[in-house]
Amino acid sequence: MDKKMKELNAGEELAFQCILRKIKSVKGLDFSQYRPACLKRRVDTRLRVHHLENYNEYIQFLSKNPAEYDELLNVATINVSEFFRDTEAWEFVEKKIIPTIIQLKEAKNKRIIRLWSAGSSKGEEAYTLAILFSEVLKTKINEFNIKIYGTDIDKASLKDAQHGLYNPASVKNISTDRLNRYFNFDGKQYKIKEEIQALTHFQNKDLILGEPLELIDFIICRNVLIYFTKELQTKVMAKFSSALQPQGFLMLGKTESFGPFMEEHFKSFNSAERIYQKR
Ligand SMILES: C[S@@+](CC[C@H](N)C(=O)[O-])C[C@H]1O[C@@H](n2cnc3c(N)ncnc32)[C@H](O)[C@@H]1O
Repeated sequence: MDKKMKELNAGEELAFQCILRKIKSVKGLDFSQYRPACLKRRVDTRLRVHHLENYNEYIQFLSKNPAEYDELLNVATINVSEFFRDTEAWEFVEKKIIPTIIQLKEAKNKRIIRLWSAGSSKGEEAYTLAILFSEVLKTKINEFNIKIYGTDIDKASLKDAQHGLYNPASVKNISTDRLNRYFNFDGKQYKIKEEIQALTHFQNKDLILGEPLELIDFIICRNVLIYFTKELQTKVMAKFSSALQPQGFLMLGKTESFGPFMEEHFKSFNSAERIYQKR
């Protein structure tokens, strides 16, 4: 690489870091420990939309158009999700994890069950959990106080999650039987029914800067940590460990596992489905 090229790249790198600092000061979100290649690809899509040549031009653009910050966050947070995403994992949750949690509660005569979808996007994971708990417990659901927390940094997604309204494409993985039982269809959109929605609580929480929740029985965090550097993944794992009750469960995404730190705090419960139990 010649000297001029190197200088150009160094200049672009500085400009990219400057964009991250601007996001932090304007929006209060710290992307500095997200994997840079992934984040750059996302920012580049905004450059293309505005026909800009480089990050410096984008910085100027952000200064003149503050509304662009929201568009940038939209692409940076990548909020793709689905109901019952990875069917086998959910089957295992239904057949093994939920019954085990209930058994543990009954053995201790405890009635509060606390679950956490961390990086919940538009609520698909939290509602999937709510549907499964309701199916496993049936009428016994009234004997328990179930709280399913969905947390995310993307406020627009959280708003959608709270409304619980989905277009037909987003509910394609849900069987007709479940759609009829747990959703109302108005001819255009599916609305999650009140009794399922009542189990969920969506809140704005940053996994990096925020305090973890407490006394959680089961954390689902899928397709979030892949965007973080190793150091950040390790820090978030420590938060998950402190959030969980003894014997609490953690489910990661299908391709996610985080090496030695995991083994210190968690034992594998189902390695294929990336489900772990707190030691
Ligand atoms: C690809 S989606 C995953 C959604 C869902 N967990 C799934 O697997 O279907 C990633 C989500 O993580 C959220 N996210 C990214 N960084 C976060 C952070 N620091 N704290 C909390 N949520 C974050 C994004 O806003 C986005 O909604």
